[in-house]
Amino acid sequence: MASNRIRIAVIDDEKVSGLRLQEALADQGYPTDFFADGESFLEIFDHAPHDLVVTDMKLPGVNGLEILRRVKARQPKTEVVVITGYASIDSAIEATRAGAFHYLTKPIRLAEFENLVARAIEKIELCHEAADLRALMMRGAGREGMIGTSPEMVELYRLIEKVAPLDCPVIIQGESGTGKELVARAIHRLSLRREAPIVSFNCGGFSQELIANELFGHEKGAFTGAFSSKVGLLETANHGTVLLDEIAEMPSDMQVKLLRVLQEGQIYRVGGNRSVNLDIRILAATNRDLETAVTDGKFREDLFFRLNVMTVALPRLRDREGDIWLLAEHFLQKISLDFHKRIKGFSAAARTALAGYDYPGNVRELENIVARAVALAEGDEIQVPDLPPFLAKRREGQPLLGSLESLEKDHIARVLAAFRGHRDQAAAVLGITRSTLWRKMKKFGLKA
Ligand SMILES: Nc1ncnc2c1ncn2[C@@H]1O[C@H](COP(=O)(O)OP(=O)(O)OP(=O)(O)O)[C@@H](O)[C@H]1O
Ligand SMILES: [Mg+2]
Repeated sequence: MASNRIRIAVIDDEKVSGLRLQEALADQGYPTDFFADGESFLEIFDHAPHDLVVTDMKLPGVNGLEILRRVKARQPKTEVVVITGYASIDSAIEATRAGAFHYLTKPIRLAEFENLVARAIEKIELCHEAADLRALMMRGAGREGMIGTSPEMVELYRLIEKVAPLDCPVIIQGESGTGKELVARAIHRLSLRREAPIVSFNCGGFSQELIANELFGHEKGAFTGAFSSKVGLLETANHGTVLLDEIAEMPSDMQVKLLRVLQEGQIYRVGGNRSVNLDIRILAATNRDLETAVTDGKFREDLFFRLNVMTVALPRLRDREGDIWLLAEHFLQKISLDFHKRIKGFSAAARTALAGYDYPGNVRELENIVARAVALAEGDEIQVPDLPPFLAKRREGQPLLGSLESLEKDHIARVLAAFRGHRDQAAAVLGITRSTLWRKMKKFGLKA
């Protein structure tokens, strides 16, 4: 059965042959995005990855092999079928080595093509099912795979459980790498829409036209190059959930359009005059403070009001020190398995280094640090040299796990330095009287 969860792209600079493949896929029930060159494909793929990519090897500009590499680097689970023109087995073998699902040589026999696509799709569907199953298992044990027992995380789980069934828009706010996407998925799975798809779309760095095309789809002939009609992401997600990632980056004209769609509950495909009724729940993720973006005139107030029914704010990793440890252990186990390495744990010094860092990139940064360490580790324990040098440096510079007194001393010294010894100003900033400041300076041996 054709699944609407599978997104397919065909890239071919020869329109006739590309359209032939597109039609063959359409006959099997798979709507396909068609691209005449690699650049325009990659631009879309970066924002809304496809599950299966069929690409010609020889293309103007970025060639098929390069596309394959970029696709695999961004989304290893996407399957790629390459088509070689000149029975050039060498490049086909190179492509298979670089992770292509398979290759086909021209002239393409449709039966062979359809057979190959069916096998690729079977693999993709199995992979989706496994991911669903894993998520389901995780849900019982650890809230959609979210790790953390700090009061901030427990509060977050409670909030997710509360807002999930409400079927209202939710703004998910948090620094980069704090887990906004995980939270969005958790909300969807705990909602009444769980059987329908959740589709995510990154609004950043995209022109208005491209966003409209991706979100609303288009009718055949809507613009030059629209060889067939295309279902937009909003339609794909109908009865489900749409995660609009980096919502603050959405161009303002598009904000107007989105607001209209949400108010009217229907969309028109680009170039179309037939409306489609829409029943979707919007989750909007942002690492910026949307309220400030509204005040600064960067985000439309009317759209903000529409979306701002509930806000879920994610804690920063450095504000929940206890979780650093749990997460580090969790990633160590998971990544050692992936890398086929037997690593028991972290040395005491490595633990201290990990605990003392402030993780501007939050959980994702910690995950990357652990992955790098697992790759480098030689024995059965992660040692300090396996960690990035900036962790060790930071520890020598200023231990984060020091006593309150030493933090107080450092802080006073910094404020004094900032005001070049002006005690009145320093005391005012510190919120203490001049005489208290004087006593503390004496106690800590600080000079103005
Ligand atoms: N509480 C958590 N437990 C386990 N893994 C987590 C947790 N939070 C985040 N992660 C992992 O950290 C990585 C980043 O999470 P995610 O992509 O959800 O962050 P994000 O807030 O959307 O980041 P960005 O703003 O950069 O898009 C993912 O691999 C995710 O699985
Ligand atoms: Mg994200």
